[in-house]
Amino acid sequence: MRRSTFSFTHLILPALFSRALTLPVIQSSPQGEWNNLSALLQPRQEHTTVAINETTLAVAGGVLGVYNGSTQVGVQTTDTVQLYDIPSDTWADVAPLPLGLNHPNVAAVDGKIYILGGLADGGNPDYFIDWVATGDSHVYDPSTNVWTELESMPRGTERGSAVVGVHDGVIYLAGGMKLLRDGEQAGLTTVTAFDTISGKWQVLPEEAANIPDPRQHAAGAVYENTFYVIGGRNVDQYDGKDTVFKLDLDDLEAGWTTSDATMPTARGGVSGDVLGDKFFVFGGEGNKEAPNGLFDQVEVFDLQTEKWTELDGMPIPKHGTSAVAAGKSIYIPGGGLQQDGKEYVLESGEVKLADTSKSLDVFTVKGRGDWESYSWSPVP
Ligand SMILES: *[C@@H]1O[C@H](CO)[C@@H](O)[C@H](O)[C@H]1NC(C)=O
Ligand SMILES: *[C@@H]1O[C@H](CO)[C@@H](O)[C@H](O)[C@H]1NC(C)=O
Ligand SMILES: *[C@@H]1O[C@H](CO)[C@@H](O)[C@H](O)[C@H]1NC(C)=O
Repeated sequence: MRRSTFSFTHLILPALFSRALTLPVIQSSPQGEWNNLSALLQPRQEHTTVAINETTLAVAGGVLGVYNGSTQVGVQTTDTVQLYDIPSDTWADVAPLPLGLNHPNVAAVDGKIYILGGLADGGNPDYFIDWVATGDSHVYDPSTNVWTELESMPRGTERGSAVVGVHDGVIYLAGGMKLLRDGEQAGLTTVTAFDTISGKWQVLPEEAANIPDPRQHAAGAVYENTFYVIGGRNVDQYDGKDTVFKLDLDDLEAGWTTSDATMPTARGGVSGDVLGDKFFVFGGEGNKEAPNGLFDQVEVFDLQTEKWTELDGMPIPKHGTSAVAAGKSIYIPGGGLQQDGKEYVLESGEVKLADTSKSLDVFTVKGRGDWESYSWSPVP
């Protein structure tokens, strides 16, 4: 395999380095507790996670770690899909995707899983990484274990890594990227919508059809009637953003606006979801201060007051994962344990360019239903 052409500034801080290796796996903070549950069936990153219902999560696509012995030597795009049963803490393989996809755009609607495009292997051996957009779209019914083809994404809107939200049976996709190839990964402003009732892609009013600035690897969701696009990046791993874009889905002509409240730590490669009336943003990639290039930040956006709160950091910082809320927990399966492509030198002298996780980390908030009892300290 050709050596990565990623070139990044190396910032090796021995003190921080040893601290990172000894962080506890389970951590308790005033706002919640971290734990890890049954690991994924394989190390995986750049997948998407959705909750089919309160008890079943699904992990779709992404890339699996490729190993020579215990050394990760690369990643491979996967078509595998696994369901996680929360009550029994078990994973199971189900019918694979019709094609391997990383950074897939995924939503769960009425107990079914919709995959609306993503990035597929481009197959050019001159590149270490060569992932290109496909608009192929499919829906999965867990009761029959069958994937059914849907109308493809409209020509020109094919992409992966979009922020996905669901409102009244319509799946909205914002931003994303067409290509991820050594050193190339421009963000997009494109916003599109797929109606799960008619099975058709919608034409959005001009005001709603683009977010204010290109984003990929962002977080976001629909909360009540509003679609949020939070953080993310544009041209590369270090181009992290702190913005919150909003669209009122009941008044599309009013168009996108940008909240005055910026995320405390600008970053991309984040994951996040809504729990109660708050949006939690976890981790990220492109942190020049950390030897492994990751952000451990957990920052929470109050969707009612538009105030940010910084929580204790993740015990195991991750990027390239996909967080999903169910009950009073947020589940974070797999992800990358270091910045992709960055030469991360271990104490043994071994150099890693990627480190794909299989752990299922879970953050459980304390006192759900009594939000006032939280030790929230909003960022002024
Ligand atoms: C939990 O995390 C620890 C430390 O990373 C790891 O050794 C253990 O295998 C994990 N357990 C599961 C079930 O993932
Ligand atoms: C796997 O690792 C061994 C030991 O370091 C090395 O000799 C071998 O060439 C490697 N194989 C591949 C396919 O990289
Ligand atoms: C959730 O969905 C799974 C998969 O379809 C199903 O087996 C399970 O019974 C559902 N659970 C509930 C509570 O509806």
